[in-house]
Amino acid sequence: MSLENPQRYTVTAALIYANGPIHIGHIAGCYLPADIYVRYLRSTGKDVAFISGTDEHGVPITIKAKKEGITPQQVVDKYYVQIKQAFSDFGISFDIYSRTSNQIHHETSQEFFTKLYDNGDFDEEVTEQYYDEVAGQFLADRYIVGTCPVCGNPNAYGDQCERCGTALSPTELIEPHSTLSGSKPVMRSTKNWFLPLDRMQPKIEEYVNSHTEWKTNVFGQCQSWLKEGLRPRAMTRDLDWGISVPLPDADGKVLYVWFDAPIGYISMTKEWAAQQGRDWELYWRDKDTKLVHFIGKDNIVFHCIIFPAMLMAEGSYILADNVPANEFMNLEGDKISTSRNWAVWLHEYLEELPGKQDVLRYVLAANAPETKDSEFTWKDFQARNNNELVAVFGNFVNRAIVLTQKFCDGKVPPIGALTDYDQQTLNELAQFPDRIGQAIGQYKFREALGSLMDLARLGNKYLAETEPWKVVKTDPLRANTILNIALQISANLSIVCEPFLPFTTEKLRSQLNITEHFNWTNAGRADLLVEGHELGKGELLFAKIEDEEINKQIQKLLNAKRMNELETKTIPAIRNEITYDDFAKMDIRVGTITEAERVPKSDKLLKLKVDDGLGGRQILSGIAKHFSPEEVIGKQVTFLANLAPRKMMGLESQGMILMAEDRDGKLSLITPGEAVWNGGTVS
Ligand code: 2FM
Ligand code: ZN
Repeated sequence: MSLENPQRYTVTAALIYANGPIHIGHIAGCYLPADIYVRYLRSTGKDVAFISGTDEHGVPITIKAKKEGITPQQVVDKYYVQIKQAFSDFGISFDIYSRTSNQIHHETSQEFFTKLYDNGDFDEEVTEQYYDEVAGQFLADRYIVGTCPVCGNPNAYGDQCERCGTALSPTELIEPHSTLSGSKPVMRSTKNWFLPLDRMQPKIEEYVNSHTEWKTNVFGQCQSWLKEGLRPRAMTRDLDWGISVPLPDADGKVLYVWFDAPIGYISMTKEWAAQQGRDWELYWRDKDTKLVHFIGKDNIVFHCIIFPAMLMAEGSYILADNVPANEFMNLEGDKISTSRNWAVWLHEYLEELPGKQDVLRYVLAANAPETKDSEFTWKDFQARNNNELVAVFGNFVNRAIVLTQKFCDGKVPPIGALTDYDQQTLNELAQFPDRIGQAIGQYKFREALGSLMDLARLGNKYLAETEPWKVVKTDPLRANTILNIALQISANLSIVCEPFLPFTTEKLRSQLNITEHFNWTNAGRADLLVEGHELGKGELLFAKIEDEEINKQIQKLLNAKRMNELETKTIPAIRNEITYDDFAKMDIRVGTITEAERVPKSDKLLKLKVDDGLGGRQILSGIAKHFSPEEVIGKQVTFLANLAPRKMMGLESQGMILMAEDRDGKLSLITPGEAVWNGGTVS
C-alpha cells in the first residue's frame, strides 16, 4: 500500500561510488527519473528533500586507488568534485549532494550500529573467511571473484552477483580467486557482526508483500530472494578503508559499505536540514513522510531487503514507500562498460555538446529503461532532437511567438468568441497537466514525456488547422483569438516541461516574459497570459543537429572499441613443439618484389614477381587489403621458397611471402635489417 497524500517527501538517488565519472546509464537508470519526480513534486507545492551524494567507502574505492597508484582519499576527493559538478551542470536539482566521508556520516553510521548492537540485533560470530596470504588480507566483497551459485555468472563478486542481483557471501562463490594477487585464497578465522536476515524474514516479507504496487521488476526480484530464503549477512569487514566498527574488540574492522552507504541518506538529510534550519527527523521519522529510493536494478536487494531490515531493527525510522528501480541502458548495441570505455560520459557530453543538456535529458527519458533494458544510439539522439524537439516542440512555440510579434506587436492579443474547435482544444489542454502529473506520480516517466509532446502536437495541429497567418489578412480579430490560444498552450508547456527540460523552461519563460511563478497548480488554464502582456524576444528553443556532430561521437566510440580490442588482444599461444629437422625442411629466402598487380576479381590477392636470384618466380600473396601494388614494388622480403606450388584464382603461386601481424591485425613485410643479395637464405 502506497502512502496517499503524504505531508512531505524524502527522495533519495543512489549514492554512487566515487571511483569514476558518471555516464548516461547512471543518469537514465536513476538520477534523471528522480529529478523529474522531484521537480514535479516541487511544482505542485510539495515539501520535498532530494538527497544524494557519493559513496566513498568500500572495496570499489580501494581497487581504483591501487589501479591508479594513488590513495583512496585522493580517489574520492577527485571524483566527488567531478561528479557533483557534472550533475549540477546537467540540472539535477539535489537539495544536497554530499559525501559519506563527512564526519556527520561517520557519527550517524556508528550510532546506528551501536544501537543495533545494544539491542542485541547482531549475531557476533567467528567464521572462516577467505584470506589472501600474498596480499596479507581478508578477501571481502570485490576482492574476491568466483562463479555465482545462483545464475552461473563466472565473474560474481564476493558480496553480489551483478548479473542476477543476488546478494552473496564470499564462501558461497564457486571456485573463488583473489582479485588482489590472483592467488588461491586460504581460510582464516575472524570475528564479524551479522544481521540475522533469516530470522528477520517474516517481517521483511510482510513489508515487501504490503507493496504489491511496486514495479514488476522490483517486486519480482524481491519475491525470488524471499522464496530462496534470506541468509545472515555480515555488517562488518576486515578492511582498512571505511568507518571503524565502534566496538572495543574490533581493531582493523570497518562497517560493511552497504551498511554505511544507505545510512548516508539519513546523515545527508541531517546535513541539509541543519543548513536549512529544518528538523531532519520529520523527513525520516514522521509517518506522513513518503520515502522513495531511486536506484538502478543492481541495488534492489540492498534497498528493498537489507536497508529496510536495518531500519526495522533500529526501530525509529520510516521505511521506503517505493523503490522505482530501472533496468539498464545499453549503448549502440553493447552493454555500457567503464572498464572498456564503452560509455557516453556526462562530463564529456557537457563539454562537447554545450547547451544541449535538455536534448540528452529528453532522449534518456524517452528511452528510459523503465520496464526492460533499453538502448541509446547517437542516430536516435539526432532523430529525436531533429524530428521531435525541433520539429514539434520548438516549431510550435516559435511560431506562436514569432506570429504574435509580427501581427500583434509582440503583445498577447485579446481573446474573442471561441469556435467549437477552440473550445475543444482548450478542453484538451486542461487535461494535460493531470495526465502528465499522474504518470509521473506512478513513475511512468516515458508515458509522461509522451503526453508532454502530445501537448506540443496539439498546439502544432491547432496552428496548422486555424492558419492565423492567412486569417489575419481577412479577419484580424479571429487571428488574435488563435494566437492568444497558441500562447496559452505555450505558457502551459513551460510549466509541464519543467521537470523534463528545465533549461528549455528557462528559455521559454524568458521568451514569454513570464515573471510570475507559474506552477502545476495553475497549469491547464487558458488565462495564464493576460491580454496586452508584452512578450520577450522569440528564439529557436532547439537547434538541428547535423550528421557531422553525430558522426564525431560515433567515431569516438569506435576509437574506444579499437583501443579496447588492442588492449585485450592476447598474444597467441605457442604452437605444438617441432624438431630441428622439421624446421630445417623449410627453405626461407630473401628476394625483391619487382612487379606487383591486383588479381582481378579478388580483393585479397596481389600477384607478385619476386627476384629470387634464380630467374624470378610468381607468388600470390593475400595482402591486397594491407598494401597497394605500388607500395610493395622494390621491397626486399622473406619468402618460403620450397612450398609446393598451388593454384589460386586460376594462377600458380610458387611460394609464400612471410608477414608479421601486429596486435591490431596490421600486416608488415619481413624485410632484412640490411640489404641481402636476392636468393640469400634465412636460417
Ligand atoms: O552501486 C553503487 O554505486 C553504490 N555505491 C550505491 C549505494 S546506494 C546507497 F545505498 F547509498
Ligand atoms: Zn548470479
